[in-house]
Amino acid sequence: MLRRLRERNEWKFFGVLTKADPRLAATWWGALVLRGVLPAVFAIAMGALVGAVQGGRSLAGPLTFVAIVFILLQVLPPIHQAISANLGDRTAAWLYDRLTEACVHPPGIGHLEDPKLTTDLTVARDFDLGMTGPPMQISVDFIAGGLVTMFGGLASAAVLFAYAWWAPIVLGGAWLATHWLLRESAVWRDRNTDEVRAAQRDADYAYRLAVDPAPAKELRLFGLAGWTIDRFVARRTRLHALQYEATRLREKPVLWSLLLVGGANVAFFWSLANAAVHGGVSLAQAVVFAQTAVGVSMIAFGGLNWALDGAAAPVGAVLRLEPGMAAAGALRGADSQSRPADGQPAREIRFRDLSFAYPGGSPVLDRFDLTIPAGSSLAIVGQNGAGKTTLAKLLCRLYDPQSGAIEVDGVDLSEFSVRSWRDRVTAVFQDFTRFELSLRDNVAPAGAPDEVVRGALASAGAANLADLDTVLARGYAGGTDLSGGQWQRVALARALCAVQLGAGCAVKRRSSTASSPPHGAARRSSSRTVSPRFAMPTGSACSRRAASSSSGRTTS
Ligand SMILES: Nc1ncnc2c1ncn2[C@@H]1O[C@H](COP(=O)(O)OP(=O)(O)O)[C@@H](O)[C@H]1O
Ligand SMILES: [Mg+2]
Repeated sequence: MLRRLRERNEWKFFGVLTKADPRLAATWWGALVLRGVLPAVFAIAMGALVGAVQGGRSLAGPLTFVAIVFILLQVLPPIHQAISANLGDRTAAWLYDRLTEACVHPPGIGHLEDPKLTTDLTVARDFDLGMTGPPMQISVDFIAGGLVTMFGGLASAAVLFAYAWWAPIVLGGAWLATHWLLRESAVWRDRNTDEVRAAQRDADYAYRLAVDPAPAKELRLFGLAGWTIDRFVARRTRLHALQYEATRLREKPVLWSLLLVGGANVAFFWSLANAAVHGGVSLAQAVVFAQTAVGVSMIAFGGLNWALDGAAAPVGAVLRLEPGMAAAGALRGADSQSRPADGQPAREIRFRDLSFAYPGGSPVLDRFDLTIPAGSSLAIVGQNGAGKTTLAKLLCRLYDPQSGAIEVDGVDLSEFSVRSWRDRVTAVFQDFTRFELSLRDNVAPAGAPDEVVRGALASAGAANLADLDTVLARGYAGGTDLSGGQWQRVALARALCAVQLGAGCAVKRRSSTASSPPHGAARRSSSRTVSPRFAMPTGSACSRRAASSSSGRTTS
């Protein structure tokens, strides 16, 4: 039972609050408990005041008591709200940190394409955008409010023990039962059905089409603006309808709840009235018990249930993704192998009896054999979708084959250190990345001397493109954007620069004078003896032509 509780997203959510910021979480809980007990304390203070009036005693003490509790009741909520917003932000940041780490850390890329992980990835990636639920800072405030009322109800119930042992059990039990009776109404269990997922995906896609600059041309040229909006509206409406259907209050459980709660309250107030009439309780006690009996209603099913479900879902998703992604993006021996790939291959690269399928897909390569002699150029030509890019990706060790191997001078690729091997290969992919960085960092993301960067740009036919410091994105000071062809040349220069950094048999590299690499990326070692690299342009005619003319050592 405890294990099942610990496996629940809600449990994990509260654990993550503490991990995100232990001190803030402790303050949040402290304020929460204090706010929770205040309504019961206020009822007691009122009882004391009524008792003093009735007994003709001094009112100074009871009035001060009432005043202090009243002021706390007014002052604490806004403070708690600010704490909640802060804690929500920290929690969102903690989750995003874990998610980015889980996405970036695995040496392979299979985890980002595994259909089994996509739902969790979508939930974890978009939870704070406010598209499918409130952002975390608002959720945490909702949850605080819900827990305060829950504690308030429990504290009120505890006071009723002073009246009769059965009173808190009957009243508290009845209000608590609403959580069980109405449970279906709060949790959107079906959020992962195919229909919900498809509607969410379609709506997100239509939204992106509408707001991203890239599709703006075709959207206008082909008259798709109306279609995009209709699609977005239709899918969002469907999504809301499904959510409403899944979480609306249902008639029967509501009826049962009313009967139960009504019966319990009638029983209690009947008893209290009797006791008051027959002198069993004083007026002051009657005031306290009546007020706390009303206070027990705060236990009832309500906002907490809704808010907690939505906020706990991304926590569960991120915590599941961490091990899931680590496994799906792992490469054989990636952490343990330290065999350097320097100078490899001297003889050949061989695809031996290699079979490969993408996660959840059918085989792309089936017992594939190919030997590429070192120092040769090779063009691989084939139909679209035949698996050419897949070969390049396997050679870059972005995936491991399911069977067979890539051998470098007879050594299985998986025996080399991944980093060391990746320093030996380079590629221009069709969907190369346009870094929002300077031209220099676009050509040499891991750093390189400026002469090398300039040389690579010149070889790629992009000598006078822009100053090396110019940021290749609009929206930055002095930033600019490039034409499609110019971008291709930059991507090509990136590959040629990498060739330069590892090429030139037995040439010692000079110390790097380039600016520090972005995002702390490791700079390539600045003085080691290196020999030819394999450059593998895949894709555009431009990149193929330029790359093969640049070095005679390329495969494509
Ligand atoms: N990331 C991926 N996930 C699943 N399937 C993929 C992925 N990339 C490519 N494929 C599939 O693998 C096959 C080979 O793709 P690819 O190697 O890119 O072909 P090409 O020869 O045109 O470069 C295609 O059928 C494609 O649909
Ligand atoms: Mg391709």
